[in-house]
Amino acid sequence: MSHDTIDTLLTEDRVFPPSESFAAQANVNDPEIYARAAADRQAYWANWASQLRWMEPWHTVSDWQLPYAKWFIGGRLNACDNCVDRHVDEGRGDKVAFIAEGEPGDVRTFTYAEVKTHVSRLGNALKAMGVAKGDRVCLYMPMGPELCFAMLACARIGAAHSVVFGGFSAESLHERITDAGAKLVVTADGSWRNGKVVPLKEITDAALAKGAPSVTGVLVYERVGEPSGNVPDYNRGAWHEGRDQWWHDVVDAQSDDCPCEPMDAEDLLYILYTSGSTGKPKGIMHTTGGYLTGVYATAQWVFDLKDSDIYWCTADCGWVTGHSYVVYGPMANGVTQVLYEGSPAVPDKDRFWRIIERHRVTILYTAPTAIRMFMQWGEEYPNRCDLSSLRLLGSVGEPINPEAWMWYRRVIGGERCPIVDTWWQTETGAIMITPLPGISGTKPGSATRPFPGVAATLMNEEGQELNLDSGDPEGTGGILALTEPWPSMLRGIWGDPERYQQTYWSRFPGKYFPGDGCKVDGDGSYWLLGRVDDIMLVSGHNISTMEVESALVAHEAVAEAAVIGKQHAIKGQAIAAFVILRASHRVDPTSPEGEARIAELKAWVAAKIGAIARPDDIYISADLPKTRSGKIMRRLLRDVAEGRALGDTTTLADPNVVASLKTQYEEKEG
Ligand code: WT7
Repeated sequence: MSHDTIDTLLTEDRVFPPSESFAAQANVNDPEIYARAAADRQAYWANWASQLRWMEPWHTVSDWQLPYAKWFIGGRLNACDNCVDRHVDEGRGDKVAFIAEGEPGDVRTFTYAEVKTHVSRLGNALKAMGVAKGDRVCLYMPMGPELCFAMLACARIGAAHSVVFGGFSAESLHERITDAGAKLVVTADGSWRNGKVVPLKEITDAALAKGAPSVTGVLVYERVGEPSGNVPDYNRGAWHEGRDQWWHDVVDAQSDDCPCEPMDAEDLLYILYTSGSTGKPKGIMHTTGGYLTGVYATAQWVFDLKDSDIYWCTADCGWVTGHSYVVYGPMANGVTQVLYEGSPAVPDKDRFWRIIERHRVTILYTAPTAIRMFMQWGEEYPNRCDLSSLRLLGSVGEPINPEAWMWYRRVIGGERCPIVDTWWQTETGAIMITPLPGISGTKPGSATRPFPGVAATLMNEEGQELNLDSGDPEGTGGILALTEPWPSMLRGIWGDPERYQQTYWSRFPGKYFPGDGCKVDGDGSYWLLGRVDDIMLVSGHNISTMEVESALVAHEAVAEAAVIGKQHAIKGQAIAAFVILRASHRVDPTSPEGEARIAELKAWVAAKIGAIARPDDIYISADLPKTRSGKIMRRLLRDVAEGRALGDTTTLADPNVVASLKTQYEEKEG
């Protein structure tokens, strides 16, 4: 990795206004929209909501008893009805909804009418397996059309889905199944990733073997098939008679007629778990009417969706991006989209560009960590392919470095496509800070401005609101806060109202605290600067330091652990762990036993949480640097892990501790 191609300069003054031709055709191109929305937020959001199909109108736009807000009170609608049936009823049934590529190269397409049939049969199958309105269903599946069908089928019958990313371990899956009290788990025999099979059913069996009394059934989609000549060896898991059912046995036989359940606007649509700064993940709750309004509006304006577009969001539905910008937002807009199951390097490092070329993709929405990886692989891969169909590019998940932004614009976008850098969170449900591609002058590394109808500000550490119009051309730095409720905001943490209040609403009373640092420049553009709490952003995924520490100390050899995110050129942050071994397990970290122990601990964390949480580095230490009051000095650990000169060590109880860690770093790096 050459470090000179990627840096994080924050003095960035390049501005790229939309081209005249893009602006002329854009879904929104009147800059007055910001002021109009701010003048009457309720009317503005009500106008968006009225574009959805309601079964019963609302009587009150919103009611705020912070930290709780309700939107479109009294209204009834169904999210699946809006994403599927409505398009069929309005004459768009023959439009392609999904072009789905599997990693082995299989391509399947589904029209909206076909999606309706699949989702209806699945909805009836879920009911036949005992799922009723208000129940939770856990989905642990490959990224592909069946996962989208399963989400929509839950929405259709009024059950809440809880999608668990297929890269999570049995332990993480178990924790999420039991926390949500899921009645059913929908999974697959396996999923393709990097030419190998992720044995989803086997992992599901292991999760359920830990005890999950709420689960009465497991529905298994056959994605991979029996291990054979073309299918690498993998474990399909044992068949549990009475609990397990094959999808092709129960779903295909169902009737196509499955009415959409009328849901209250405030009925739960889904739970999605995200890392919290304590080890336990938070079950973020999203409801029906406000959420659908938020994702419908942002998808239409931010991605400038048109009937003729072929849209591709590369996120897996295991993350919120797949919920809001694969399923609900784009489908409520009736778009044609590409789904891709597997790795960007199979069969070669040009897979993404081949997909764009093959399906004439017009809009690409991906993550900075992927863009940095493509930069490192080199331009030859995209340059081999015809990317001229692209007209808009998006980025999400973490701050994008200006150099990666410029590369994305030049190499992928041919210098013609606007880039929308979208800031939001699992909790916000929809995009909050973003360019509007027909209006905004974009700047490499800035998410620009709050979406119309969204209100943001900066606070200082003392909880005072900062003046963003100070006239200082350098701008103002602080902590981001959202000052007005918005329709797609989370409605709570499943089973833990206390933690909801504490995490989001106690830092700045009356304002929502997202946990991100931010600078607003002299033009009013927002530059998101990363987390201010103990959440790491590893390849754009939220992992808490506590979660990894808890996994480490659960190992019999570990007495104490401290985890930090260190800067990483591709992942954004990589995990570094500092561990103290129990006296009975002490080893010299540089000996073969020490190296074996480190490898074992890395594998242990991956097995506990999932491969995304595997630490890049583990340092074995006799002690951890602590202040005299016993607080671990993470700043110093970061200095060590990033190979910097040690900062101020004068407040340490024992300065020798970091010195010995530093020696270990230097030996490791050679
Ligand atoms: C955190 C939320 C939003 C879906 C994917 C992540 C960081 C996200 C950006 C961006 C700078 C960003 C923030 C945020 N983040 N997008 N465009 N620029 N930072 O969802 O797992 O809930 O993580 O991701 O730190 O708080 P999530």
